[in-house]
This record gives sequence, C-alpha cells and structure tokens, in this order.
Amino acid sequence: MREKTLTMDTLNPQVKAVEYAVRGPIVIKAGEIERCLEEGGTKPFSEVIKANIGDAHAMGQQPITFLRQVVALCTFPELMESPSFPEDAKWRARRILQGCGGHSLGSYSASAGVEYIRKDIAAYIEQRDEGVPSNWEDIYLTTGASDGIMTILRLLVSGKDSSRTGVMIPIPQYPLYSAAISEMDAVQVNYYLDEDNCWALDINELHRAYQAAKQHCQPRVICIINPGNPTGQVQSKKCIEEVLHFAYEENLFVMSDEVYQDNVYAPDCQFHSFKKVLYEMGPEYYNSVELASFHSTSKGYTGECGFRGGYMEVINMDPEVKAQLVKLLSVRLCPPLSGQAAMDVIVNPPQPDEHSYQQFHQEKSSVLGALAEKAKLTEEILNAVPGIKCNPVQGAMYAFPRIFIPPKAMEEAKTLGMQPDMLYCLRLLEETGICVVPGSGFGQKDGTYHFRMTILPSKEKLKVLLGKLRDFHVSFLKEYSALE
Ligand SMILES: Cc1ncc(COP(=O)(O)O)c(C=O)c1O
Repeated sequence: MREKTLTMDTLNPQVKAVEYAVRGPIVIKAGEIERCLEEGGTKPFSEVIKANIGDAHAMGQQPITFLRQVVALCTFPELMESPSFPEDAKWRARRILQGCGGHSLGSYSASAGVEYIRKDIAAYIEQRDEGVPSNWEDIYLTTGASDGIMTILRLLVSGKDSSRTGVMIPIPQYPLYSAAISEMDAVQVNYYLDEDNCWALDINELHRAYQAAKQHCQPRVICIINPGNPTGQVQSKKCIEEVLHFAYEENLFVMSDEVYQDNVYAPDCQFHSFKKVLYEMGPEYYNSVELASFHSTSKGYTGECGFRGGYMEVINMDPEVKAQLVKLLSVRLCPPLSGQAAMDVIVNPPQPDEHSYQQFHQEKSSVLGALAEKAKLTEEILNAVPGIKCNPVQGAMYAFPRIFIPPKAMEEAKTLGMQPDMLYCLRLLEETGICVVPGSGFGQKDGTYHFRMTILPSKEKLKVLLGKLRDFHVSFLKEYSALE
C-alpha cells in the first residue's frame, strides 16, 4: 500500500510541540462521558457540568438582543421592512452595510476591516480612555483576539540561537500564548504572578525573568493579560506604569490582552487600559513604546465567541513594519464580516436617548451583575473547603484555586505518568461529572497545584457544582491521607 506523506515522523515538529489544555484530555474524556450518558450508561451523576472553557453562550447565557438584531438585519436586509426591528438597530445595520462591498455582509472587506467600523472602534477607545486620541488607521479588525495575538507574535519572532525572540508571558497564562510560542519556535520566558498577593504582577519578577532569559535568547516582547485569565486579577494603574516603564527601558514590544476589559467585579478594582496609562506617563513614553492591545466579541457581557470578532490597536509601530503587517493581514483576506458587525455593536451600543437603550442596559447589567455575584460566591464557597485556597475573582470569568494534594496522591499520579492536578481533575470528572482544567495546563510554580473553573454556569448550577466539588475534595483528602 502507498505510504502516507504526512506522518508523525514528517509532521512539522512545531505542531507536535503545541499543547492546549482548555480543550485537552479532560475535555475529550468529558465528551466520552456525555455520550455514554446519552446512550443510557450509568454514572454517579446525571449530567456533565462543563466549567472548562470561557464560552458563555454554551453555558446558557442569552445573547444581547440589540447585537443580534443588528447582525440579523445586516445578514438579511429584507428585515429592514419589518416593524419588529427597532429603528436604531436598522440605522446601525444600514451604516455597516454601506461600508460593505455591494452592500452585502457576504463580501470581503478591506484586510484591516470595514472603514466605518474601524472609525467606530477608534471613537469608542477615545471615549473609554477619557479623551486619549485614537487613530482609526491604527485599528485592525481580527478573527477573534486570538488571530491578532498570533499575527503580532508572527511579526516579532526572528533570530537564531541566543538571538531568537524571547516572549515574556505571565505564569499562569492563557495557553494560546504558550501554544503560539511553540508553534513559532520562539522562546517562552516565564514571569510568575504573585499568588500570595492576589496574583499581582511583581516588577522585580519581571527583571529576574528578563535577566535570566537574556543568557539564552533575545527578549523582544512582553505579554500581559489584564484582567487575567486564568487568575482573575485586575491590574492596578501603578503596576501598569511599572510594566510600561520596564518595557521602555528594555526596549520591549508590549502586547496587552484586554479581552476582559468589561469583566471587572471587585468594587475596589477598575480597568485601566495600557494605552491610557502610557499616554498619562508623558510624550517620551507615549510616542515611543510599541504597543498592541487586543479586544474581542467573545467575552464581556456579549459572550459572542462564535462570531469570531475582535480588533487590535497598534501604536508606535515602525511604518515599514506596519506595511508588512498589512501585507500579512491581506494574505488571509479579511476577518468574518459578521464578527466585524458584532464588534461594531459592542463599540457603538444604544445611547440613553435611543429606543433600544433601556432593554440593552437591562440585559447588559443583568449579565455583568450575575457574573459579579457568581465571582463572589465561588471565592467564598471554595475558601470554606479545607485544603483549597482561592484568591478573589476580581475580573474575567475564572477562579484558579490552589489545591492541596496529599503526597500519596502525588505518588499515584507519578505511577500513572500524569501531573497530580490532572489526576485530581480526572477523578473529579469521573466521580461528579464536573469538568475543570488542571492548573498544569496554564503553568504554575513548581510544587503548587491548581485547577481553573469558569464562573459561567447559572447560579443554581454553580452552587450544585461547588457543593459537589467540596464533597469530592474532602473525600479525596480523606482517601489519600488515610493511605499514609
Ligand atoms: C486572555 C484571552 N485572550 C484571548 C482569548 C481569545 O479570544 P477570542 O475568542 O477573541 O479569540 C481568550 C479566550 O478565552 C482569552 O481568555
């Protein structure tokens, strides 16, 4: 028989090196268990509760009506005649369609996105940042934030051996970063967030990581996730200033992942954009530090992950490099137009004097209010369990509690050739139907163990989940401690 050309031996080794825990072995197992339950199999539970991925709609969150109205009108313009759709949605849809080739959402747009939408985004950023100017030509629509992050990293990765690009990323991190670094064969430079200090970013740790990395690579970029995934912290303005000062001093390109900018729950925390803080540091910084910041339709109060909408704002990029960026973006033609339309609604929502405002405002507040309540509930219930310690969920959509794993369980995991927190999460899934992701998939300090769970299930489901988790944890501790 003719041999295959593409085998594990000929596969791009960089692809082999990629790991992505959020959809990894635990999730595959959860799928198998779900199928088994559907086919009438018996388990000690009746459903799998998926708290592994930040996919709000999959967990039952309802779409924001206004966003769907505008996208529906753009998709099927005959609906403009329908009295069921409000004028303010029709007006926005007409405007978006005016920017599309042939007035159709089915056309390609310019590679950087529809010009109207880029202008709306720039206006939104100016308003969000209280007047800090934003130039629409610095805005690029993307296919979710992931696409923007990958594109910017692609520009930055170069060099060989000790001049290979080092990419500084937080640990714990969202595994898109480690996966992209593996795929591009860049050098991952870890800086550890301070768990004892609410996962704050410690500037001394940045210096340590940078100096250590310089021995074997050329750190060229620092990535920040604020609010944090999986750690749920919201960075203070002072901390952002320190990071930007560090980037300025060390000539680092800054990538600021701000996809959770609307997800801030702790009353004493506030979202500060890197762009605004940079501006406030004065022209010497504002006119020189190269910064790309990312936003998305997937998170916030809309949770429209499937639209694959997003944008990046890129400032202080060398004009010749910018031309290369545009070239690279052109190769993939353009991001989905439906995602661009969804992004436009997020940056241009109904205003208080518009018909749809009240309903929009009520839906938005209800989603964000429920998330804030669930963030608090999760922290409180987890912290009441012996052997679990959870930092406040200040923002984003996740808790990343630290779990105590008895030495006997660690030994068993070693025998089975898996990480202790993988053993923990597998047992949790098999015994309770709860699907969470082991901390090892995000990176963690050696000798510490965690898992990541989302706060997206409904409040009722979340309470059930946390109750089951508590019972499981207590019996896990008993089982392995009794073995000692
Ligand atoms: C921190 C962070 N950045 C980027 C992304 C990617 O989001 P998108 O769906 O916009 O590609 C996610 C998704 O969970 C995320 O948590």
